Order: sequence, then C-alpha cells, then structure tokens
Amino acid sequence: MVRKVTKAVFPVAGLGTRFLPATKSIPKEIMTLVDRPLIQYAIDEARAAGIEEFIFVTSRGKGALEDYFDHSHELENTLHKAGKNDLLELLRQTNMDSGAIAYVRQHKAMGLGHAVWCARRLIGDEPFAVVLTDDVVMGEPPCLQQMIEAHAETGGSMVATMEVPLDKTKSYGVLDIEEDMGAIVKVRGMVEKPKENPPSNLAVIGRYILAPTVMENLNKLKQGAGGEIQLTDAIADEIEEGRDVFGLRFRGQRYDCGSKAGFLQATVAFGLERDDLREEFAEYLHDVLAMRKAAE
Ligand code: G1P
Repeated sequence: MVRKVTKAVFPVAGLGTRFLPATKSIPKEIMTLVDRPLIQYAIDEARAAGIEEFIFVTSRGKGALEDYFDHSHELENTLHKAGKNDLLELLRQTNMDSGAIAYVRQHKAMGLGHAVWCARRLIGDEPFAVVLTDDVVMGEPPCLQQMIEAHAETGGSMVATMEVPLDKTKSYGVLDIEEDMGAIVKVRGMVEKPKENPPSNLAVIGRYILAPTVMENLNKLKQGAGGEIQLTDAIADEIEEGRDVFGLRFRGQRYDCGSKAGFLQATVAFGLERDDLREEFAEYLHDVLAMRKAAE
C-alpha cells in the first residue's frame, strides 16, 4: 500500500537574478502570469493533487511572498460592502487554512538539494512532493495530480519528465532509462545538467514525488554539478541503493517561467486560455504578426 502524499515542499529561496530589476523588490514567485502570481499556480496545482501541508523554503527578502498568504480581511470587507461577490470569491479561493503553511529558511544558496533538505524535519518519514514554481504546467488533470495517481500504482520516487532537443539537455536533470513503458519510464540513473553525452533526451521538470529516504541521501550534502547540492543526485542515490525511481511523461505543456522567453510564452498561452480575454487577445496577436510580416 503506497502512502498518501499530503506534504509539498516549494523551494522559493532563489534570487531571481534573471528578472532584475523587477526582482530587486519583489520575489520572482510573486511575478504575475495574467493576473495570478506564479506561486498561486503552484499552490492550486498542489491543492488539486490533495496536498494539505505546504512548506516554503524561503530566504532573505521574501517577505512579500509570506504576506501574500495572509487573509486580507480589510479588502474582503470592502468587496463585501461593495457587493463585489465575484472578486470576493476569487480572493477567498486563495486563502489558506491556518496552520497549512510552514516556512523554513535556507540561510545560504547551496543548491536545490540543499533547499529541499532544509525541510527535512517537517517532512519526517513520509513521501512528499516538490514543486518548482518556475515550471508552470498547463495540463488537465494538473501535472502533480497525474503524478500522484501514477505514484499510487508504482510507489518509489517519481519525477515529471518531457522530451527536449538533445542540445538542450545540458540545462536539465536527464534520465537514463532502464525500461520505457510508455507514459511511465523506469529510471536507471540520473545526471544533472550533463555537459556531454546525455543518457537520453528525457529531461526532468520541476515536479517530484519523493520517498523520505531521499532526505537521508541529502544528509550527505554531497556537492554535484556547479558545486551545488543537487536534488537529482540524491534521487539517483535511491537507485544505487536498490529503490525504484520512475519518470512520468505528463500530459500537458510546461513553460519555463524562470526565463524571460518562457514567461512571455506562458503569458500568451494562459491569456489565450481565458474566456474573458481570448477573443480580444487573439485578434491583437493576429494583427501584430500580420503587421510584422507585412514589414518584412
Ligand atoms: C532544476 C533541477 C533540474 C531540473 C530543472 C527543471 O534546475 O536541478 O534537474 O531539470 O530544475 O526546471 P534549475 O532549472 O533550477 O537550474
């Protein structure tokens, strides 16, 4: 019987230097995709997957992110008095239960593995999810839910994966595949950002369901690619120690909102998904492209 996954770790300590100067005063996780901060997409996805405890690994300068989860009584009262019930409902949907959120601080930027390790005492001896907010996934059911359903069958640890061009593998954790079963692959090894000879073109994207033993592997605080403590290495250690690791080719589209181009693509895609924006926005995009073409 596979244990239910109810805890998720959100590593949100990164400086977001790729989005300077915006990130001089706002955490990148608060940056807005259409009208919701990136963190809201991650939270909504985790909630849909049945997550009940949300653990944020933060750092200095992330105060605005913590404030975002406060209930805004004043604003709710104002909207209530003004009869703006649709906005009130929208706001209330973002409210989190008291005690559902915990913050731990990463004191030094030592890599993704280190950030996840900072949450070890809150995770204890349970399987847990890790959600990277930079990776926004449009999918139905949402990506993490697809993974939880698959994990209930497979057990072990699981990463979300997608095919990327071979020359792009150096930006990702890459899977070495033991057995390809279609949607699910059994993993033989994992390499973080291979400079050459990637073991496949299956890249890890920022959704993980991990056995608690991954935390024990992280206890070694072993330095990996880029001199950082890598989550990928701690997952690969699971295989070395005889435990199962799987990759799930999720159904959906992933946007790399950690890069400017990816953020812009996500803005277009999520804008076009919205009933209240689609028509006008599509027309605008069409006109812009037509004008560009005419000018060429
Ligand atoms: C992290 C992980 C990497 C993974 C990627 C997905 O890298 O270390 O294995 O493929 O997220 O977005 P980062 O992009 O934070 O450097």
